[in-house]
Amino acid sequence: MSKISLRNINKKYPNSDTYSVSNFNIDIEEGEFIVLVGPSGCGKSTTLRMIAGLEDITEGEFIIDGKVVNSVSSKDRDIAMVFQSYALYPHMSVRDNIGYGLKLRNYPASEIKDHVDNISKDLFLTEYLERKPKELSGGQRQRVALGRAMVRTPKLYLMDEPLSNLDAKLRTTTRTEISRMHRDKGAITIYVTHDQVEAMTMADRIVLMSMGEVQQIGTPKELFTNPKNSFVATFMGMPSMNIIEGVYEGGQFTCHSFTITLSEEDQRILNNAGYNGKSVCLGARSSAIRSGKKYEEAFPDCCFETTALNSEYLGDSVNVFFDAAPMNMFAGTLGTGEPDVEIDEKITLVIDNTKLHFFDSDTQESIKYPIKVAEFQK
Ligand SMILES: Nc1ncnc2c1ncn2[C@@H]1O[C@H](COP(=O)(O)OP(=O)(O)OP(=O)(O)O)[C@@H](O)[C@H]1O
Ligand SMILES: [Mg+2]
Repeated sequence: MSKISLRNINKKYPNSDTYSVSNFNIDIEEGEFIVLVGPSGCGKSTTLRMIAGLEDITEGEFIIDGKVVNSVSSKDRDIAMVFQSYALYPHMSVRDNIGYGLKLRNYPASEIKDHVDNISKDLFLTEYLERKPKELSGGQRQRVALGRAMVRTPKLYLMDEPLSNLDAKLRTTTRTEISRMHRDKGAITIYVTHDQVEAMTMADRIVLMSMGEVQQIGTPKELFTNPKNSFVATFMGMPSMNIIEGVYEGGQFTCHSFTITLSEEDQRILNNAGYNGKSVCLGARSSAIRSGKKYEEAFPDCCFETTALNSEYLGDSVNVFFDAAPMNMFAGTLGTGEPDVEIDEKITLVIDNTKLHFFDSDTQESIKYPIKVAEFQK
């Protein structure tokens, strides 16, 4: 069992003027499943490759079990890695690819066979074991790469978008397999994805990055319910959180399209933080935007008239996009029991004022974050 720490890690590639990763700090406890998530180019693979020892760390310390290992070579770090471009050995069969790490470590042939057979079953690869990588589809190759890593029990698993080539159904099944194997083995796993659903469903803690910088580290629930800034708020959750700029004054929030009365708690928070009479950005998830008599009666000071512009039918619910100038779209998720909405139809929308977020208009930092973070720590 191991613990690892990254202290003030920075990375600047020799041919680049800017840092690809800046001031990355985290302590990871034994057995944790950490997901690095963020948009393309934000520095996820670079961070993983520094941990793997495949890229030099420009500044900072990488520590395993209390020892700084910056200069320890990749092969001596006891890491199993699945690369974003799954580099398989082309001349070896699937069976030999998966068993290779065990062979290198001098496992007896019969034991290697058992391990490879078991992992292949979990990853639906049994019927392909004698094929060469070039005779496989992209998704099958990706599962071989995953099997090659998961067959071992290292100190650390590093996985860079290991499911990106799988179809939706196989992604969900393999996601569950990875989580199960992680629990069985108990080794730290650092998993990179740009898919926020994978991050939410698999992580013990998520590290959300943007442009080389860590935006927030926390459990999926913390990031979803208490985003530190508007970037985190809009990245986590589908459809994206609505953020709309307006003015807070005398308990009310007014923007171009509507005026609503805020909850007493939110009024107190905004007053105490000195926002009365000032510009703020209101954040509302689609689940806080409702329609129908029931909601109009529950939140009479939070209703406004608008027009439906588009809708996405999802079975149990419908995402409806409304006109909310100056924003083009305002998404609400209308569930069963709420009226059907036709495109171009006028509708009364209700904002559930018990579920709102507020961000400073200039810094985009969450105004409620410091208060709620204290609640999470209780
Ligand atoms: N070898 C390199 N030399 C110079 N710059 C690089 C190199 N590798 C990556 N970068 C730059 O570093 C930044 C981070 O890249 P990285 O590959 O870590 O992103 P990522 O978050 O993994 O993105 P993706 O989701 O697209 O895989 C990018 O701006 C990229 O162009
Ligand atoms: Mg990458």
